[in-house]
Amino acid sequence: MNLKNDLLLRAARGEQVERVPVWTMRQAGRILKEYREVREKAGSFINLAKSPEMAAEVTIQPVDILGVDAAIIFSDILVVPEAMGLPYEMIEKKGPLFPKTVKSAKDVEDLNTAHIEEHLSYVIDAIRLTKKGLEDRVPLIGFAGAPFTILCYMVEGHGSKTFSEAKKMLYTEPELAHALLQKITDVTIAYLKAQVRAGANLIQVFDSWAGILSPAQYSAFAVPYIQQICEAIDEVPVTVFAKGAFFARKEIGQLACEVVGLDWNMDIQESRALIPTKTLQGNLDPCVLYGTFSQIEKETKAMLKAFGKQRYIANLGHGVYPDTDPEKVKCFIETVQSF
Ligand code: CP3
Repeated sequence: MNLKNDLLLRAARGEQVERVPVWTMRQAGRILKEYREVREKAGSFINLAKSPEMAAEVTIQPVDILGVDAAIIFSDILVVPEAMGLPYEMIEKKGPLFPKTVKSAKDVEDLNTAHIEEHLSYVIDAIRLTKKGLEDRVPLIGFAGAPFTILCYMVEGHGSKTFSEAKKMLYTEPELAHALLQKITDVTIAYLKAQVRAGANLIQVFDSWAGILSPAQYSAFAVPYIQQICEAIDEVPVTVFAKGAFFARKEIGQLACEVVGLDWNMDIQESRALIPTKTLQGNLDPCVLYGTFSQIEKETKAMLKAFGKQRYIANLGHGVYPDTDPEKVKCFIETVQSF
């Protein structure tokens, strides 16, 4: 493997870089009219995610259009519960819906854990096609949801501000929750290893709902499973992004991962002090991109100064919002690249 631009991978491994690499979460998506055109052709988000050619096309778009230093495979964290036997729908303007959820020991027992990479072969094929299309210009990021975040959707069945149904299981049936988390973890490891074999150069684990747990629950129900994933994926660097888990930064900093993702609530200096040995990624508030070009430049430069040049990957603190002007995203990217 000889990547023309390997800044992301060198920064992830803690090696010296000439400049800070930059990409944005949700860069392949509704901000781009080129994405919306392909999405239209596919008919639905799920059809698009399940068509390797089209998924590869929209994965590469932000590399061509925005000039980012990495591609992230176009898919969703919810393909894992689907492969385990819980199909989902994506309801326009509302988000995901699982008609069938996990509530009992029998439900956990019935979940499929075998041959997961065959069930998810469309993602693996999309990764292979993307690697071809990228022609080694930039690294390709693979990903999966963290076990706790996946449990949230499998138990609750849809998005929620509190995920109180899912959290209820942690309190009332902790053994059932642990059995479910272990199954998700086993499947996720097999899936991520298949992504790496197909060419993913770095793996990001999204724990999007980490912030709803107490520190004690995060230590008990999230950390041990993320650690199993970090230990199992030893072929490529791993990034752990636990949105909202400012209270767990020290513990996350001790995981067997190379990079820790930060959201905008997390102070940069404080995070460096709590996570002294790892590369950090983040953490501009995506709402900054609603500002003027000069505001974006100012905020981005302040962030770059605070993180410093080494052991750092510039990104937003969460996914870019769909109504963001792509020119503003470009401004963010170019400000990092010319700093
Ligand atoms: O560019 C990229 O970052 C790669 C693509 C990507 C998607 N989802 C595509 C998507 C990634 C990395 C994800 C991860 C994901 N999916 C997460 C973790 C990251 C995070 O945001 O915290 C979560 C929680 C999900 C679950 C999910 N998928 C929800 C709640 C929704 C509905 C809300 C929304 O944004 O519409 C989705 C749908 C989804 N996933 C879309 C895209 C582009 C929008 C669907 C569409 O185009 O109609």
